[in-house]
Formats: sequence, C-alpha cells, structure tokens
Amino acid sequence: MSSQPSESSQPSQTWSQRFESALHPAIAQFNASIGFDIELIEYDLTGSQAHAKMLAKTGIISEAEGEQLVTGLEQIRQEYRAGQFQPGVDAEDVHFAVERRLTEITGDVGKKLHTARSRNDQVGTDTRLYLRSQIQDIQQQLREFQTVLLDLAQQHVRTLIPGYTHLQRAQPISLAHHLLAYFEMAQRDWTRLGEIYQRVNVSPLGSGALAGTTFPIDRHYAAELLEFGGLYENSLDGVSDRDFAIEFLCAASLIMVHLSRLSEEVIFWASQEFSFVALKDSCATGSSIMPQKKNPDVPELVRGKTGRVFGHLQGMLVLMKGLPLAYNKDLQEDKEALFDAVKTVRACLEAMTILFREGLEFKTTRLNQAVSEDFSNATDVADYLAAKGVPFRVAYNLVGKVVRSCLAENKLLKDLSLTEWQELHPAFEEDIYEAIAPVQVVAARNSFGGTGFEQVERAIASAKQRLG
Ligand code: ARG
Repeated sequence: MSSQPSESSQPSQTWSQRFESALHPAIAQFNASIGFDIELIEYDLTGSQAHAKMLAKTGIISEAEGEQLVTGLEQIRQEYRAGQFQPGVDAEDVHFAVERRLTEITGDVGKKLHTARSRNDQVGTDTRLYLRSQIQDIQQQLREFQTVLLDLAQQHVRTLIPGYTHLQRAQPISLAHHLLAYFEMAQRDWTRLGEIYQRVNVSPLGSGALAGTTFPIDRHYAAELLEFGGLYENSLDGVSDRDFAIEFLCAASLIMVHLSRLSEEVIFWASQEFSFVALKDSCATGSSIMPQKKNPDVPELVRGKTGRVFGHLQGMLVLMKGLPLAYNKDLQEDKEALFDAVKTVRACLEAMTILFREGLEFKTTRLNQAVSEDFSNATDVADYLAAKGVPFRVAYNLVGKVVRSCLAENKLLKDLSLTEWQELHPAFEEDIYEAIAPVQVVAARNSFGGTGFEQVERAIASAKQRLG
C-alpha cells in the first residue's frame, strides 16, 4: 500500500502508516545510505525513466503520466547537476530522495513511479548501471596505460637491463621486454573486465521485492531501454545476487597487483643503490627535513592503496557468505566498497600512466653498463658448450667452477684469456667473447616470447595490433 497524503513532508515517515512513531534520530542516521549512494543518482534517474516508460507502455499508467514522470526525473537530473538538489539524511537513500522530489514536482503522479517495483530491484539495477559505466572507463584507462608502456618499450628495445630471479642478477634482458610484460598484464586486465561486463550487464529490474509482481510488466522492454544484455531468470537471484560486484572487485584487485608490482620495481630502480631510473620533478616529492631527498611517492601510494582494494574484495565475500535469500539490508554495505575500489583503481591507473608517460628517465648508460659487470652471461657459456655437443649438465658444472674461480680472483668471464678457456674445455674458440657480450646474450634469446631483439620487435607489433 502506498503511503497517504500528510506524510509527504514528514521525514520520519518515509514508509507506510503501519508505523506510529518516528525513527530515533541516531537510528535514522545509522540506517541512511544517502551519504554515499547519492553516487548512484544519475543511474537511479535513468533506471526510473525506463521503469516509467515501461509502466506507460504496458498501460499500468497512462501515456501522459509516463511522460510527466520522465520529464520530472529529467528535471531532477538538471537540478542535481546544477547543485540544486542535495538531499539530506531524512531522505534515507537516493531512491526515496528522488521519489520525494518527483512528487514535489509532479504531484500525485510522482507517487505512481514505484508501482510494480521495489527498492530491491531498483538498487540492483542502479548498481549494475553504475558498474557498467565504470568498467568501460577503466578499460579506457587501461588502454592509455598500455599505450604509454608500448611507447616507452619502442624507445628501449636496445636498452639492456639486468633480469632477475630471486632479486639476484639472472640474465640480461631488453628493457622493452620488461615493460612489455606489464603491457601483457594490463591486456589480461582489459580482457577480464570485458568478460565481467557481460555478467554485470544483466537486468534485475522487475524482480520486485523478491517474488516478481502482480502487474503485467514488460521486463524485456525495460531491459532493452537500459541496454542490458539479458535479464535475471529468477527474481530471488535478481534482487540478491552480488556475484558481479565480487567479480569486479577481483578484477580490480588484480589490476592493483600489477600496478603494485610495477611500483615496487620503480621504487627500487629509483634508489641510489640501483640508480636505473631518475624521477622527474613533476612526479616526485621532497622531504620536509632532508633537503637532498626526492621520493617516489606515486608508486609508494599505489603500492599502499592496493591493500584497501584487496580489503574490499575480502569484505564483500564475507558480506555475502551468510546471507539467506533474498534481499537483506546487509547488501547496502556493498556500495562503499565498490565506490572506493573504483575510485582507487582509477586514481592509481591515472597516476601510473602519468608517471610512465613523463615522470621517469631511464639511465640508459648506467643500465647498459650494469649488465656488463656481472655473471649474468654465465648461462650463455654453458649454452655455448652445449651447442657444441657437450651435455648441458656437464657444461653447467664446468661454468660453475669458472665463476667460482673468477670470484676468487675478482675477475669477470670476459677477462679470461682464450688459453684459460681452452684449458677448461678444448671446444672454446675465439667466438666465445662475442657469445658472452651482453648485446649478443640478449639478441640470442630469440625463442618465441623471449627477450631477443627480433622477438621484442615481434611483441611490439603484436601489442600494437591488439591495441587496434
Ligand atoms: N539503500 C538500500 C540499499 O542500498 C536500498 C534498498 C532498500 N531495501 C529495503 N528492503 N530496505 O540496499
């Protein structure tokens, strides 16, 4: 039963006359979601307009009433955008706030908007519309980030950088290859969001409170107006499913994992110990006490903010695990988690894109030099012998011995004379020096997906093609 006249200006009685007295002010505050679900207002208005059109099309309300509702809702949109519509806590949530304002604008017609609908299917619809739009924006941001990584990779195909395992120097690689690894992670993030989009893009509208409705609604028509790809088959599932939100938080968490790993690398690359990269002034900060400091606050914040996104994923899983069907007020708690995760991911993607576009200067001389002062070409000596028929394990053991004696004598592999090499194994010839030169070491790893320059060029071409 819809509420009757006198209560429209009575904030304490948003719902029916079953209630005799007003809500305790602290409880009203506790119950209200308007403080955060105002974020959904544009989607709430769009969803309500579709619902009103559907009510008119099915004859549940008249055409004229339908038009009045749609126009009134549009007016609220303009008022909101102009900063003139700022509902307070007495409105409880964005849905009540809009309905109340609509009634002020259109009179009794406004009271018909909620026919054949519940806030339960309404809020589910709003949240999906919101997320759908955010997913598209985040995908766009991922594309920009990928473009920046790709540009940088193209500039650094022949810049060498130590490759690590266990954070120990392992084998030299192309800097482009390193950057392209992050391109690939972002590519998966982009694809994953596209897949999740399919499951976000399903309409619960018309599920009613939980069981459907007695009115002859047309769910397909409303869904079509809102450009949903499909409809929930089951009304109980429709109002209480939040799988799509959990999937999104999972994808958001993975984006943050990738950004955080890259951040960690930038942080140590920028340290004096590594000195692989210099931070430009536009993307670095100073210390309030140590005048010499230049700090990598951007990647540090990204690494730090990763935790809160993981927290939202965990929070949402716990929120859902004990909920009986169908709607429970617990579900109101999904919003702040989603909104914060969206804002955090978006802010981090933007900051990292700027950092990689204009905030870093790779110290190429230092990088190229770094790889010629270590034993990261040791595998190549073993490969050299193995290519000449020496069993790899025999070669491996032999080279281990050489490295050990070099370390004792404070020498590098390139410092050994040909006689010393040949004493070790007669298969060594003059070309060993070329084989262990860093550029050759990198170039030689030409297997598909490897760091060899030809492969890196192929990867760049493939990346360009995938960016479209
Ligand atoms: N603000 C509520 C939420 O976010 C809207 C749905 C309220 N439904 C209800 N049955 N109390 O979930």
